[in-house]
Amino acid sequence: MAVLRTVIQDTHRKLEAAGIPDARLEAEVFVMNVMRMARQAIFSEQEAEVSEQQQASLDSMLERRFSREPLAYILGQREFYGINVMVTPDVLIPRPETEGLVEHALFMALMGMETTELTIADVGTGSGAIAINLAIHLPAAKIFAVDVADEVLDVASFNIRAHGVSDRVSLAIGDLLEAVPEAVDLIVANLPYIPSGRIPTLQPEVRMEPALALDGGDDGLDLVRRLLSQAKDKLKEHGIILLELDPEQVPVVQALALKHFPEGATGVEQDLAGMDRILAIHRQAPE
Ligand SMILES: C[S@@+](CC[C@H](N)C(=O)[O-])C[C@H]1O[C@@H](n2cnc3c(N)ncnc32)[C@H](O)[C@@H]1O
Repeated sequence: MAVLRTVIQDTHRKLEAAGIPDARLEAEVFVMNVMRMARQAIFSEQEAEVSEQQQASLDSMLERRFSREPLAYILGQREFYGINVMVTPDVLIPRPETEGLVEHALFMALMGMETTELTIADVGTGSGAIAINLAIHLPAAKIFAVDVADEVLDVASFNIRAHGVSDRVSLAIGDLLEAVPEAVDLIVANLPYIPSGRIPTLQPEVRMEPALALDGGDDGLDLVRRLLSQAKDKLKEHGIILLELDPEQVPVVQALALKHFPEGATGVEQDLAGMDRILAIHRQAPE
């Protein structure tokens, strides 16, 4: 029977040979998962035996990974802003950049608005990762989490229940803000923003994610444009919209937002790589 040390080395080598990025880290994550061990334990118990059943389950996971299925779909979960969310191939795997959107929404909600009893719309909720974190950190807020497909909402619904926030997060199906039943203080949206022509050039893992979550039309901004037109009726007078965008799109959307809200103001936030990533649109310029 093999021991942990050799299984980790072997897994690392196989992943590297298959051209998987971050092969070492992924080898550790796969082994932690099949052995149900914490990270420290896989290093401190290097001579622990790996059963045939555990090896077989590792091999079947690796087979899936060799066909470039994303790690998060194989494990069925992803950590996001300190919580684990279930992910299936029906939903986008939440990204670290989007944690910045949550962080900024929390900052706005706690510092920049007159009340903490906010109503918030998370448009294009996917796994529900944004809405759930906002509900956890803003206990007085009421949140509408919207998506366009039943199978996506099934995943969001599971996650919302698993994190115990279903009393404050209402799911709605529909096109962008049309499904939101009342005007809200804050709209948070990580909508599909990749130009259609760029989809075939994406990493194979990303191409396994739903096109509905990625494809933003010719210039990537089809949904963002529609959201801004709908926002007139669904954003309160002093409301704020926070959008995650591709850095190149930020100036275009900034100009568009000010056309829709001539009394408004915009601000840009960077992601961890220092790229312009989040656009804040204030319906009324702050005094
Ligand atoms: C980029 S993913 C974001 C998912 C999640 N909010 C996150 O950040 O991980 C975009 C989401 O928008 C949803 N979507 C696409 N078109 C939509 C529409 N017309 N109305 C509402 N949601 C839509 C997709 O199904 C997908 O879940």
